[in-house]
Formats: sequence, C-alpha cells, structure tokens
Amino acid sequence: TYVVTDNCIRCKYTDCVEVCPVDCFYEGENFLVIHPDECIDCGVCEPECPAEAIKPDTEPGLDKWLKLNAEFAQVWPNITVKRDPLPNAKEMDGVENKYDQFFS
Ligand code: SF4
Ligand code: F3S
Repeated sequence: TYVVTDNCIRCKYTDCVEVCPVDCFYEGENFLVIHPDECIDCGVCEPECPAEAIKPDTEPGLDKWLKLNAEFAQVWPNITVKRDPLPNAKEMDGVENKYDQFFS
C-alpha cells in the first residue's frame, strides 16, 4: 500500500484524490489518509502530491504512518474531489515534525 506521511499535515493539497483509480483517500481536518486494504499499489498518486507526502510502505520507518492511515481511513469520510489547499499550505510545506500539529 501507499501511505500519506508527515508533510501532508496542514497542507492538504488534495491533488492525490483526483488520480486514485479506487478512490481510497479519506479526509480529516488537516490531513488525508489512504485506506491500506483498498489501495491497489498503482503508485500514480505519489508524484501528484506537491508536498511529496505520499510514499510506498516499502520505505523504511513508516510504521507510525501506516498505523495512522489504517486507523483513520475507518472513521474519516471518503474524498474523491480536489478542493483548495489549507490556507497556510505554502508556509507549512516542509516544516519539520508536523506530527505534533496533527490534532491541532
Ligand atoms: Fe490510490 Fe494508487 Fe495511490 Fe493507492 S497508490 S492510493 S490505489 S492512487
Ligand atoms: Fe496531502 Fe499531498 Fe494529497 S499534501 S492531500 S497527500 S496531494
């Protein structure tokens, strides 16, 4: 599966949702997740993310994010249509340790 990671937080560009052939993105306040059981590993979303937040779970160190994607994909609503990025997306792009701001 592919996984949404750190840099999506408080950017949420949503370009990713338009290209997913199985519509497996789910939307929270300031972050999106991929449903790991629905993702077919096609990889088309990865280069679409301006924040480079989408990665294959074969990359090391993504356990925390994989768990988070799996957990919230079950409770957040599905999103298939692109919307405006969050207001401070540009400023927040590349900020480190955004995980701390996940719930803020
Ligand atoms: Fe959707 Fe393909 Fe990205 Fe998985 S890898 S989330 S199926 S676009
Ligand atoms: Fe997030 Fe990138 Fe999609 S910032 S909403 S994973 S395009």
